Amino acid sequence: MNLLHISSSLFSDQGNSKQLANHYISQWLEQHPGGQVTERDLGKEPVPHLDNLTLMANITAADKRTAEQQAQARLADTLIEELMQADILVLSVPMYNFGIPSTLKAWIDNVARAGTTFKYTATGPVGLVNDTKAVVLTARGGAYFETPNDTQTPYLKTLLGFLGITDVQFVYAERLNMEPEKAPEIMSTAKAEAEKLAASA
Ligand SMILES: Cc1cc2nc3c(=O)[nH]c(=O)nc-3n(C[C@H](O)[C@H](O)[C@H](O)COP(=O)(O)O)c2cc1C
Repeated sequence: MNLLHISSSLFSDQGNSKQLANHYISQWLEQHPGGQVTERDLGKEPVPHLDNLTLMANITAADKRTAEQQAQARLADTLIEELMQADILVLSVPMYNFGIPSTLKAWIDNVARAGTTFKYTATGPVGLVNDTKAVVLTARGGAYFETPNDTQTPYLKTLLGFLGITDVQFVYAERLNMEPEKAPEIMSTAKAEAEKLAASA
């Protein structure tokens, strides 16, 4: 079993979202001894935003790329390969300025590639990342669950579904900055939820 963890907290291992994800992963490893974990810490090592040259390289068939394009597309090729090999995709997602971190958006822009991770057909788009489940561990200063201001949940469900990942579960640690004295309790509750999900993964 392969687990791919994409973390995007600016605080890396100290980030609340990454702490939740690490807790999930430690429990998941107990269920799947020998499971392989690959991590991309976008807070520490962000992937570049797409620019024109990279996009053109990415959408050129591998055997038609120039040497420069091959180099240009290498990172996105690697990111896509990591995603395609994952049985479980774990996203640790802080709420930054009412959305997902821009580093996570840059990763998404690199892996959403027509003909590779999705394709368009006459009847609509078809996701090509099959047999992958996702778990999203969110951390928020405020409270947005089931409100219109939770832009992350519908966006990530739509995006992951578009890529073919339809089994998506969420864990929320909210109000972390509203009631800092309760933050340890909020994190414990969220960790317990993460544990439950890991037990059934
Ligand atoms: C740049 C920045 C922007 C933030 N914007 C929001 C926001 O729009 N809404 C919110 O509820 N909390 C916001 N927060 C608080 C974070 O959601 C909170 O600190 C959470 O723990 C972040 O997850 P992390 O610890 O994994 O990085 C923001 C924090 C930072 C650093």
